[in-house]
Amino acid sequence: MSHTSESHPSSSVTPGSSEAILLAADVIRPILAEPPVCFGVLGSGLGALAHQLEERVAIPFSEIPGFPSVAVTGHAGELVFGYLAGCPVLLQAGRFHGYEGYSPDVVVAPVRVAAALEIPVLLVTNAAGGIHRLFDPGTLMLISDQLNLTGDNPLVGPVRKGEIRFPDMTQAYDAELRAVARDVALEMRIPLQEGVYAGLRGPSYETPAEIRMLAHLGAGAVGMSTVHEVIVARALGLQVLGISLITNSGAGLSPQKLDHTEVLEAGAEAAPRLQRLVRGVVARLGVAEN
Ligand code: HPA
Repeated sequence: MSHTSESHPSSSVTPGSSEAILLAADVIRPILAEPPVCFGVLGSGLGALAHQLEERVAIPFSEIPGFPSVAVTGHAGELVFGYLAGCPVLLQAGRFHGYEGYSPDVVVAPVRVAAALEIPVLLVTNAAGGIHRLFDPGTLMLISDQLNLTGDNPLVGPVRKGEIRFPDMTQAYDAELRAVARDVALEMRIPLQEGVYAGLRGPSYETPAEIRMLAHLGAGAVGMSTVHEVIVARALGLQVLGISLITNSGAGLSPQKLDHTEVLEAGAEAAPRLQRLVRGVVARLGVAEN
């Protein structure tokens, strides 16, 4: 399939608008050889999973209506369909972050597209700072719940078609899916902790005082993504599973200063473990479907 920028309608639609979501879904639908069992969002340093798919077909963000182009985000982003452990999945490699200046509407657009494609499960991953004393760099943390501390909410404004005004968030992260993840981790002998993810706007890392505050609030880990995507997923009825890769200790908990490059490097060591876990979970989702 060849796409040309001339024929591409993205320049004429408002990014993140309902119209853009439907147009984006129309662009993605033809590459779905089968209905995906889940939509996986790959966090910083976790994009390699998208390259492990079999029969993979990728569409760069620049060819998806209403998605900011690579030129803006500064890194390659794409949606990729393919098979993981024999199960059809759609993966998002590269994210739009609020700290880059994107509105919540743009940040959550890929999740809304997944819902428009009737994908039932959102699997979110992210890199995060560890707050719980036991969550050393390299720890995988199953997200049990979240704190949206961004000061914003992607559902503000008119209620969109298919969404609800006041979605219940008591099961933001699905209990059954968490049980599946724990089970798979045990079977694969992958250590898996569990805790609350605090989502902040960023882009500065936290101060030691902020990390102490987050610890008091019950957060196990902190990051700059995920919470808005999960809110919209729940408003649309998707079940959510979230896993954080702890790349560093929260500010002040270790003598080291935080440096983005070092954070990513630390993540690289643990990424293969997270990939194995995701593969195992997806295999179970595929079984549940049949
Ligand atoms: N804080 C916020 N976001 C992060 C961190 C952190 O320490 N590590 C990776 N993402």
